[in-house]
Amino acid sequence: MNIHSQKALVLDFGSQYTQLIARRIREAKVYSEIHPFNKGVDFIKAFKPQAIILSGGPSSVYDKGAPHIDAEVFRLGIPVLGICYGMQLIAKVLGGSVEKSKHREYGPAELIIDSPSGIFGGLGRTAKVWMSHGDRVEKLPRGFEVTAHSENSKLCAMSDESRRVYGVQFHPEVVHTPKGRKIIQNFLFNVCRMKPSWTMKSFIETSTQEIKATVENNKVVCGISGGVDSAVAAVLVHRAIGANLNCVFVDNGVLRKGEAAKVEATLKKSFSMNIRRVDASARFLKRLKGVTDPERKRKIIGGEFVHVFDEEAGKIKGVKFLAQGTLYPDVIESVSFKGPSATIKSHHNVGGLLKKMRLKLIEPLRELFKDEVRALGRELGMPEEIVARQPFPGPGLAIRIIGAVTKERCDVLREADAITLEEIKKAGLYNKIWQSFAVLLPIKTVGVMGDERTYENVAAIRAVNSVDGMTADWVRLPYEVMERISTRIINEVRGVNRVVYDISSKPPSTIEWE
Ligand code: XMP
Repeated sequence: MNIHSQKALVLDFGSQYTQLIARRIREAKVYSEIHPFNKGVDFIKAFKPQAIILSGGPSSVYDKGAPHIDAEVFRLGIPVLGICYGMQLIAKVLGGSVEKSKHREYGPAELIIDSPSGIFGGLGRTAKVWMSHGDRVEKLPRGFEVTAHSENSKLCAMSDESRRVYGVQFHPEVVHTPKGRKIIQNFLFNVCRMKPSWTMKSFIETSTQEIKATVENNKVVCGISGGVDSAVAAVLVHRAIGANLNCVFVDNGVLRKGEAAKVEATLKKSFSMNIRRVDASARFLKRLKGVTDPERKRKIIGGEFVHVFDEEAGKIKGVKFLAQGTLYPDVIESVSFKGPSATIKSHHNVGGLLKKMRLKLIEPLRELFKDEVRALGRELGMPEEIVARQPFPGPGLAIRIIGAVTKERCDVLREADAITLEEIKKAGLYNKIWQSFAVLLPIKTVGVMGDERTYENVAAIRAVNSVDGMTADWVRLPYEVMERISTRIINEVRGVNRVVYDISSKPPSTIEWE
């Protein structure tokens, strides 16, 4: 069911920026969805978008097997904006030509706007833009005119106002194009005549109605993990069906310090939700005993979670639905990218459970990006402590204890990790960092404390910035913050006598150590 009266369609040609395009559109309060370029004209007609955006992509339009689009798309009367490859494709399909180039133009450029109307309305004469392309449009299709150029290129943007088809060679969706948001908004509001009406408030209204209609008077079970997504999903479902929602919080023994208690307290106290907290830590740790292989750790934790959840959900009488905090990046059908969660979420694979218990799945966040889930949580009145939480992997501390996992090592890491986060929060950095945490290494080193020689563990500190977890850069933490973290861990955590800082980026390293 598609309940959005106004929506933009982003056709994906494989660009690494496709998701960004959809997000920029949503930031303008217009609902957007990403679909593969080859969905066909019938799909587009049925989808009924008011705006179509063709993404960039890595191919050359003349390559064998290059992604293509039916010319009929331009006869539907729906305005089209082509970005980079999207623009080259417009040129090719509508009778212009594209020059194959051996050299990429990559980086900033100064755009000189020839036609300050349409998508360039209100932008002034020049704009800094981000280029990332090899090929370029050589000859305009009939009916088009050049709307912007640069020193390097006589054709950076083109339009056919009568057909309402636009092309830009640069990337308006990236932050390196400061006026890019305005360009996208011009397209949506001035060209497509859309209204900025998609807000979290309207989302809550429509989705609670939808949940009510689907669930009726039946019971729903929801697994709470301590992360943002499951908590927001639960609060939203609770808003819709109240006491018919039953939450199960499995403490797997590899959670952070105080995490389970905090989330439980908030959801219980502020939202009066039914939460059943199950302390299954002994079970998990028993199964993890002696296991050092990271993937086996993941499988064990995933499998055990399903067992425990199954048992607990089985105790709730008359449950018919399972609510899950699946996000949009997990469900996008995409040409080139797969959200990192496609594989990493395997530990929460409850597919078998659904079948066995004959439960139906509801995924109230499946249309949302992560930042939208946070905005939704705020709109639902959830505290910053939950909505602004950094991502935490399902297998938890088990993949941050290198080597075998024991209760003792979990306790040591929990303390070191808590200090790390406390100091990062005190320095006002927590919300500026994608993930920050401590890792416990499987080596001991010599130290000296007072007059005594020590032989203890090493803790590594990791802090990274990232947009989606796919790539990441290590954070240049101020030395003073590093110093406080190190001094406090060595003084306060028994069993650690050395702290090191991880200065590797992803790729080639990963965010987690296992
Ligand atoms: P890596 O280590 O692959 O991590 O650079 C990328 C992002 O994914 C998270 N991650 C996981 N999340 N289950 C999860 O739920 C997992 O098994 C898992 N492994 C990695 C990691 O924390 C980072 O945000």
